Amino acid sequence: QHPGWPARLGPVVVAGGQVTLRPVRFRDAAAWSRIRLRDRDHLERWEPTGRGAWEARNHASNWPALWTSLKAEARRGAMIPLVIEVDGQFSGQLTIGNIVRGALRSAWIGYWVAKDLGGQGVATAALGLGLDHCFGPVGLHRVEATVRPENLASQAVLRNVGFREEGMLRRYLDVDGAWRDHLLVGLTVEEVMGTVVDRLVREGRAALP
Ligand code: ACO
Repeated sequence: QHPGWPARLGPVVVAGGQVTLRPVRFRDAAAWSRIRLRDRDHLERWEPTGRGAWEARNHASNWPALWTSLKAEARRGAMIPLVIEVDGQFSGQLTIGNIVRGALRSAWIGYWVAKDLGGQGVATAALGLGLDHCFGPVGLHRVEATVRPENLASQAVLRNVGFREEGMLRRYLDVDGAWRDHLLVGLTVEEVMGTVVDRLVREGRAALP
């Protein structure tokens, strides 16, 4: 076991419903695949290029291998792979990755949310919970994220929770079939007054049940 793993986080209430985070499960295959096949146009532009067709990669039969690798990374202390639930239903994923300890104590954070829940505060709440977990139980000093300049919704979410822009990474990541520039954003624990979720509540972006 590593600090902060496994974890159940939340709930936080937003327009979309009650948001909680919990570890990925073997039995998430059907829900994961159903949303990912349905929402291809919403997801593919922003995700790392995969091998093979979208339909094959996101078929339910692929989940066990993905789940196994996520759990192995979590056991090693390098990753915290969480599912975003809204009112108890699988609604997306939030992953804290490349957890490095020592003098860096840093990680990246990434997420996706089902299209039909868009614009209802779900990603903002999930990211708030994830960041508070990183800076609390996980014991990190810094969290970063990278986002394509074209991804305005994700940039809004990152701004909502307090990320700062740090620069542009040229041809940084193989996303949607090509090397794409990414905006690097970062946040360190000193910049968070209290908790991120408390700030979202004060700003009227979220509520506690
Ligand atoms: N242009 C500008 N802003 C937009 C747009 C748009 N086209 N669409 C939505 N927004 C804004 C909303 O107004 C809102 O901002 P506000 O709270 O200041 O009003 C914000 O984007 C959305 O906030 P939430 O409702 O909390 O986010 P949501 O639950 O809709 O999820 C997400 C956003 C995660 C980006 C979702 O659309 C998604 O899964 N997209 C596909 C995958 C993806 O892009 N993942 C992020 C990759 S980058 C990374 O992981 C660091």
